[in-house]
Amino acid sequence: MSVPYKPRYPLLCAPLKVGKVTLRNRMCSAPMGFPDLTEDGCLTEGAIAFYENRARGGAAIVTVSEACVDYINGKSHGRLINLQNPGVLAGLTNCARAIRRHGALASIELNHAGALSDFDVLSEKRRGGRERFGPSGMTLPGGEEVREMTAGQIAEAIDRFASGAALVKRAGFDMLMIHAGHGWLIHQFLSPLTNRRTDEYGGSREKRFRFALDVLKAVRETVGPGFPIEIRFSAMEAAPGGITLPDAVAFAEAAQTYADILHVSAGGEPDFHITHPPMFSEPGCNVRFAAEIKKHVSVPVAAVGALNEPEQMEKILAEGQADIVCMARALLADSELPKKVEQNRTDEILRCIRCFTCHAERMLTQTRICALNPQIGREYEAKFDAPPTRPKRLLIAGGGPGGMQAAVTAAQRGHSVTLCEAGDALGGDLRCETNVPFKSAFPKYIATMKRRMELAGVEVRLNTPVTPEFVRSFAPDALFVAVGAEAMRPPIPGLDGENVVFGTELERRENEIGSRVAVIGGGLVGCESGLYLALSGRSVTIIEMRGEVAADANPRHRPALLAELAAHTKVRTGLRVAEITPEGVVCESPEGGRELIGADTVLCAAGLRPRTETVDALRGTAPIVEIIGDCVKPDIIRGATWRAYHAALDL
Ligand SMILES: Cc1cc2nc3c(=O)[nH]c(=O)nc-3n(C[C@H](O)[C@H](O)[C@H](O)COP(=O)(O)O)c2cc1C
Repeated sequence: MSVPYKPRYPLLCAPLKVGKVTLRNRMCSAPMGFPDLTEDGCLTEGAIAFYENRARGGAAIVTVSEACVDYINGKSHGRLINLQNPGVLAGLTNCARAIRRHGALASIELNHAGALSDFDVLSEKRRGGRERFGPSGMTLPGGEEVREMTAGQIAEAIDRFASGAALVKRAGFDMLMIHAGHGWLIHQFLSPLTNRRTDEYGGSREKRFRFALDVLKAVRETVGPGFPIEIRFSAMEAAPGGITLPDAVAFAEAAQTYADILHVSAGGEPDFHITHPPMFSEPGCNVRFAAEIKKHVSVPVAAVGALNEPEQMEKILAEGQADIVCMARALLADSELPKKVEQNRTDEILRCIRCFTCHAERMLTQTRICALNPQIGREYEAKFDAPPTRPKRLLIAGGGPGGMQAAVTAAQRGHSVTLCEAGDALGGDLRCETNVPFKSAFPKYIATMKRRMELAGVEVRLNTPVTPEFVRSFAPDALFVAVGAEAMRPPIPGLDGENVVFGTELERRENEIGSRVAVIGGGLVGCESGLYLALSGRSVTIIEMRGEVAADANPRHRPALLAELAAHTKVRTGLRVAEITPEGVVCESPEGGRELIGADTVLCAAGLRPRTETVDALRGTAPIVEIIGDCVKPDIIRGATWRAYHAALDL
């Protein structure tokens, strides 16, 4: 007998009426902008497909971003949606339709960067008549001069928000979001740090709010009643003298007259890691701001930041801390999160690990990528993936992230897949971080991938090494080799000692690790393992030969990691390890001086080497052999999932 449907998270699944529209649930896709736009600021098919995916995944509102209301003087980043270009209309319309056809509400974020307009990336000549202006004159840390906005420029900026609003409404968006946070123009007016005006737009709190409220009023007049306006603002800034929570409460009270949803974010321009909490921050660490604001207002409040756990999000709603939860990175890792919550399939959700691959890649290569979700960046191409012409028997050697991803993708495409893992559990090297609190998403990742394999019909065999003989007797159509990498063993005297533990053994031998630890190798693995051991109460010194540590960390994760290391560990750079003794690690400085760094245990994290011998032995044992994951080249999880997914698509 079939069981009647009952949502496990009824509050997350409850609809909400706002103005003339109804949110189908309380889980929304926070603004995420990527530069796959044309040079004149039109949406590409790739960008539209990206937002469409969020809608197909079940989000109630999908907020397209970032639409720039002043493409001459107000761009926050190099490529944005240009609301002054009449040619943008068709793309906007197609985007709104792509979102709406999956039952989500199409929203779009309107912004002006003000003093932080990025046109300095252009040459003097191309800059032409552009002007960098903000509420008050100032010199930016990079030396650029900002001019104080005239009354005329203020009126013009307000007008531009209004005409941008008219355009997006015409394009078929159901609602819009005004960006008043994260350090951009409206935020600059709200913050005492950047607004030192003495006219009606600066001085008292109320006067600092005026520009934002004038924008809201003008937009409201343009879009009319019933068309929801969401305002996104920062409830605090880290710098002394900046926006405080009481300021934000007062602003929320004033803004609710014109706005239908108050979207509470946090952090000013230099506060990247407040706005985007890193893996070291508690899940939902910014929700407290929304909770405080909610006590003072009557319109719905949205919370955002490091949210991805249905249990926690349901609790936020149950306790009245917010009415809506918004997610950005969580919906990169799994755009179907809302749908899976509604369908009680939460064990299939891939949780974001907050590694910042998405942000760093956007910054470094202007592309869209997610470490866990290899579909990100190819949403448009994915529409044309044809099913395989002839389903094959695929054997996969290795149950790490690469092997598991290949298994899921291949099985979902109709291939018959057997995955063999030599060890007694799945997960590969991720298993050594099982207990690391800031990597708590990894055990969940392994569990979700197991579940996905089960649902896709993958046969998993543990304790089954794949030898050439095994492959020959199994006789698959294709073999994927994903046997991973092993710890490097640099020729250091004493490395065989009982006091030495390798990074890859962290979980298995943790109970042997003493209270004073010396970590050899200041790469990402050494730094994160060292940090974990320090957080678990040990005194940790990280020893690195080069001049800096975590050089292999991405540029968004690295500053957060370095701050944690500075707070909890000792970091010694420029030291060569000469010897390991029972007393610790003997190091040599470039000048030739020797010193002992005392330690009960030495954690060796000197890098990984691919299992090339195993790979070479398996080459030529099946008609198709693909080598994937760390056994090609040790990498972060992203490298393995990305290559594995594509190898499975190619099958
Ligand atoms: C790749 C990426 C792009 C983003 N782009 C924007 C943007 O264009 N406008 C904006 O207001 N916030 C942007 N954000 C911030 C998110 O909306 C969100 O506030 C932040 O990531 C914290 O939420 P999360 O922990 O769920 O990721 C972006 C975030 C990411 C990860």
